[in-house]
Amino acid sequence: MTASTQFDLTGKVAVITGGSRGIGKSIAHCFADAGASIVIASRKQEGLDKGAKEIEKSGASVLTVATHTGNDEAVQMLASKTMDTFGAIDIVVNNAATNPYFGPLFGSDESHWDKIWQVNVKGYYKVANACLKSMRDRGGGKIINVASILGKIPGSGMGIYSISKAAVIMLTKVMAQELAQDNIQVNAIAPGFVKTDFSRALWQNERLHGAIIRQIPKGRMADPDEIGGIALYLASSASDYTTGETIFVDGGQSLGPSI
Ligand SMILES: NC(=O)c1ccc[n+]([C@@H]2O[C@H](COP(=O)([O-])OP(=O)(O)OC[C@H]3O[C@@H](n4cnc5c(N)ncnc54)[C@H](OP(=O)(O)O)[C@@H]3O)[C@@H](O)[C@H]2O)c1
Repeated sequence: MTASTQFDLTGKVAVITGGSRGIGKSIAHCFADAGASIVIASRKQEGLDKGAKEIEKSGASVLTVATHTGNDEAVQMLASKTMDTFGAIDIVVNNAATNPYFGPLFGSDESHWDKIWQVNVKGYYKVANACLKSMRDRGGGKIINVASILGKIPGSGMGIYSISKAAVIMLTKVMAQELAQDNIQVNAIAPGFVKTDFSRALWQNERLHGAIIRQIPKGRMADPDEIGGIALYLASSASDYTTGETIFVDGGQSLGPSI
């Protein structure tokens, strides 16, 4: 097998949650360039339309489905609309996540826990579960869960979010173990700080941004396009013997700052 066939996604159908912008859109672009048909799902149709227009430039077929990934009915609808349009699902990227609360763990409301858990953990399981039958019927598939470096290092003021991302790392292992017999590989990507809307409050604040940069040996935050290539590896046959892994893409931040 050549390098280009290993990374080829021609004939594959990929569902990407949170695909309208940021990391999800960058992953969608990469998969579209590699030949996949793309389904992007997020809550707001306006953002999906904008994202789809950009992704379609590569010549890929793109379906948009307005979906709240914490909602059972919406998730079922995402899977059934994908099946109606493309007839199959081969790749699922669980990427849509939320963090409605910045502050200490001791002082948080139960509603913060519920919201974060509903989308960041149960939402990932629900989307994978809704797409599972098609992957089994196809004789295999790929599930990619977007975790975070904060699943390994607690983010100050982001405790519940950090706990949810640690859960995503374990969810990935459990899914990988259960689905290995179905030839479905399940892996996670754990980005460090990436310049997107999600992290805007951090990189637009000069003091915070400076403090973050000092923790990263690479000396800068990532661009969303620096995540797409890793996702392509995990979505393609190049990763057929890789499962249950979490790949940290963090500019060396897990290593600690360099002196
Ligand atoms: N940026 C970082 O520094 C960073 C670092 C580590 C990990 N991550 C992780 O990377 C992933 C993507 O983050 P990002 O930085 O690309 O964020 P982003 O630019 O804010 O994009 C988030 C995407 O998720 C969608 N979304 C949010 N809540 C949703 C829900 N309940 N249901 C469906 N879609 C929803 C958004 O669209 P709508 O608003 O239309 O729903 C949007 O498409 C997340 O899992 C995040 O935890 C980010």
